[in-house]
Amino acid sequence: MSLAPMEGLTGHLFRQVHATCFGALDRYYTPFLAPPRQGSSFGKKAWREIDPENNRGFDVVPQLLTKNADEFVWAACLLADLGYREVNLNLGCPSGTVVAKGKGSGFLRSLDELDVFLGKACDKSPLPVSVKTRIGIQDDAEYEAILAVYRKHSLAELIVHPRVQKDRYQGVPRQEAYGETLTTAPFPVAYNGDIFCVDDYKALVETYPATRHVMLGRGMLANPALGRMLRGGASATRAELEDFHNRLFEAYVAEIGGNAVFRMKEWWFYAQHAFANPRTVHRAVRKARKIDEYRAAVTRIFHTEALARTACFSA
Ligand SMILES: Cc1cc2nc3c(=O)[nH]c(=O)nc-3n(C[C@H](O)[C@H](O)[C@H](O)COP(=O)(O)O)c2cc1C
Repeated sequence: MSLAPMEGLTGHLFRQVHATCFGALDRYYTPFLAPPRQGSSFGKKAWREIDPENNRGFDVVPQLLTKNADEFVWAACLLADLGYREVNLNLGCPSGTVVAKGKGSGFLRSLDELDVFLGKACDKSPLPVSVKTRIGIQDDAEYEAILAVYRKHSLAELIVHPRVQKDRYQGVPRQEAYGETLTTAPFPVAYNGDIFCVDDYKALVETYPATRHVMLGRGMLANPALGRMLRGGASATRAELEDFHNRLFEAYVAEIGGNAVFRMKEWWFYAQHAFANPRTVHRAVRKARKIDEYRAAVTRIFHTEALARTACFSA
């Protein structure tokens, strides 16, 4: 079980606080990083993400977003020197600006180029290369050709988020595409998409009993105890949630000052679903501007709002 890379949400502070409060998941992925130019080092923001000091006590896989194989290999060399054991390529990002540059899921439009890229990356990277992919741009029929490209390369793992770029995060993931990959791919396969509660997980594993790795994103933001629950453990108590929140907020304050409030609001977009009245909770948080207002709003929430019976993200 792993935590999905989520830009602005699952950075190093989130990973540290999560592992401390709820026990480390098997793996955490960094949100996507742009590789530095060949010969250069990672910039300050990216460095904070990959600095081994910030990732102690749990297994982290850095994710890169690029279509330049030389830069990918250069970044993989830097990451290998830091002690990382795998590097992940982002072939799923649906954002318009990323796709327009032919990166993320935009790379799935140029399969010949992607084939050459993966040949070079897998051959020259000192670290095993895993890929996180969508199954197409417009239509899931594109996936057959995409998978045929992946099959030619010795990927460490293929993480399938079975939506197409056009779906963004809407609609139902096409789990059959994952199932087909799981049974036929020559490399390990992982599943990602809409596993928000224990029942979602059980249904996936029942349909695809060979499932070995599930990556959790929004579900884990709404319910940081989800990983523990999928292993048969307890849901989060109010005290646990409050402690998790407070540690995360104070860590952000220490790193980015007043902007911590804005950062936390992004988390609350998901975390509101831990409460019985998510809208009331979200409204109260959204109104807070300054750190003190925010602290007061959140204290009120944790001490007066009822928890949801089952914390579960809903779009
Ligand atoms: C705000 C946001 C940021 C994301 N950032 C990344 C990213 O940096 N790299 C990546 O591969 N996927 C990214 N994703 C996609 C997630 O990793 C994941 O594939 C998606 O949320 C579906 O999984 P879920 O249904 O468990 O949330 C992002 C998604 C969201 C909503």
